[in-house]
Amino acid sequence: MGIRNIRKDDDPILRKKSRVVDKFDERLFTLLDDMAETMYLADGVGLAAVQVGALRRVVVIDVGDGIMELINPEIVESDGAQCEEEGCLSLPGRNNITYRPMNVTVRAQNREGKWCLYKGDGLKARAFCHELDHLDGVLFIDRLATEEQIKENPSKEEERE
Ligand code: NI
Repeated sequence: MGIRNIRKDDDPILRKKSRVVDKFDERLFTLLDDMAETMYLADGVGLAAVQVGALRRVVVIDVGDGIMELINPEIVESDGAQCEEEGCLSLPGRNNITYRPMNVTVRAQNREGKWCLYKGDGLKARAFCHELDHLDGVLFIDRLATEEQIKENPSKEEERE
């Protein structure tokens, strides 16, 4: 187990596409454990493997109700819309309002390789979209809401500290 270095700002790896995971081995488990530890230390709610320099389709998310380990995740359903403030551990100080679906269902493998479905709304839906985007080299600054979208979807969340 260990803390890994978070890639930031203009690091070119953040724009690369991550590869499908086909080996569910010790190396993957170590990556998952290190990602969780790194995310919690940085006080984040999600982290993609590319952010610690590993181009593999692996994501960890914890929005306060426990760790989710998503391997080879894909969005299978989404609806609604939300415009809320979003940030990224790789883009410190650049928080901004994004346009995202309100409800998202993700299909992903767990560390045993078993496919599972995960549903989320609000913050969890944003986290799914944000972290899965990372696997294709897409950052939240590519998903910023327009004035019109913000007007149509006013924030439903209390300001967070
Ligand atoms: Ni991010």
